[in-house]
Amino acid sequence: MNNPKQPLIIRLASKLLNPRGLDKPQKLHDAVNNKLILITGASFGIGEETAKHLAKAGAIVLLVARSADKLQAVADDIQKAGGRAFIYPTDLSKPEHAKAVAEQILAEHGHVDIVLNNAGKSIRRSIAMSENRFQDFERTMAINYLGPVQLILALLPSMRARKSGHIINISTWGVKMPAGGRWAAYQASKGAFDTWLRSVSVEIKQDGIATTSIYPAIVYTRMSAPTPWMHKLPGMTTEDASHVIERAIIEKPYDISPEWLGIGQVTSVLFPTPVRKYLEFVFKLSKDSEASINSAKH
Ligand SMILES: NC(=O)c1ccc[n+]([C@@H]2O[C@H](COP(=O)([O-])OP(=O)(O)OC[C@H]3O[C@@H](n4cnc5c(N)ncnc54)[C@H](OP(=O)(O)O)[C@@H]3O)[C@@H](O)[C@H]2O)c1
Repeated sequence: MNNPKQPLIIRLASKLLNPRGLDKPQKLHDAVNNKLILITGASFGIGEETAKHLAKAGAIVLLVARSADKLQAVADDIQKAGGRAFIYPTDLSKPEHAKAVAEQILAEHGHVDIVLNNAGKSIRRSIAMSENRFQDFERTMAINYLGPVQLILALLPSMRARKSGHIINISTWGVKMPAGGRWAAYQASKGAFDTWLRSVSVEIKQDGIATTSIYPAIVYTRMSAPTPWMHKLPGMTTEDASHVIERAIIEKPYDISPEWLGIGQVTSVLFPTPVRKYLEFVFKLSKDSEASINSAKH
């Protein structure tokens, strides 16, 4: 889901405000040709686009998500274009399924070179509307934290034995900033995995395993679409996001963030009270989206 109709000024701002992506496709081929790359959330959005790019560059992509028909369609597109793709329809919010799919993949392919932890669920809903919705907090923790933890726990022994591997996490810019209103379920769960991986990273670096955490702001996908103002702001297309992931694969940096995020972090440390007041002001000014109100009725 890209946004070609945006005004030129927004498109220019998008280029300036978002992390730089890979600009030399030949480098990608050299880095991923014949590599086994497991991509979670490969049925839509960032995961789908990245799977297609990596397969085109010669990777063998292992596609995980719940929607079997959509995964099959992505794999068919890849195979028609001459690429290699295998599908693993799985609900990663169930830890036992996350473990089973990791074991199946290792049994069928022997190892995994790169894991792109990308599957996720976003909820933007005020706490007043969440009072009877404990399930919002359970399901975001299940897919954004516990499922990926179990998946990676099951893959780590093989990576450690081979002294090689790269885990790339699609985090979110919000986990580096003071949390804004309406994001309690999403931010807490994304923050939990972000912290988990950064702690684990210190240990597995000694075993030859790299991690990269990517902190995107807005990406134009079905995830951000229910909050319509997001698609009017500068952001990344799924293609832009894929190029950022491709750069992560080649350069293996510890962290990829938009340049302005560092300034935001310093500001929030130096001026905590005005930043808090600003967040309260934004909360008062904004509303729960129609989509959030409607889905809370079910
Ligand atoms: N869009 C943004 O503005 C934005 C900004 C910052 C970070 N991110 C992060 O980027 C990542 C990708 O998001 P996106 O924007 O590409 O969203 P998306 O288009 O909604 O894709 C989410 C993917 O996750 C999969 N998924 C969801 N629940 C799952 C489950 N229980 N088990 C297995 N797979 C599951 C979905 O597939 P199925 O429904 O088929 O299972 C889908 O393939 C997420 O981690 C998100 O937090 C997005």
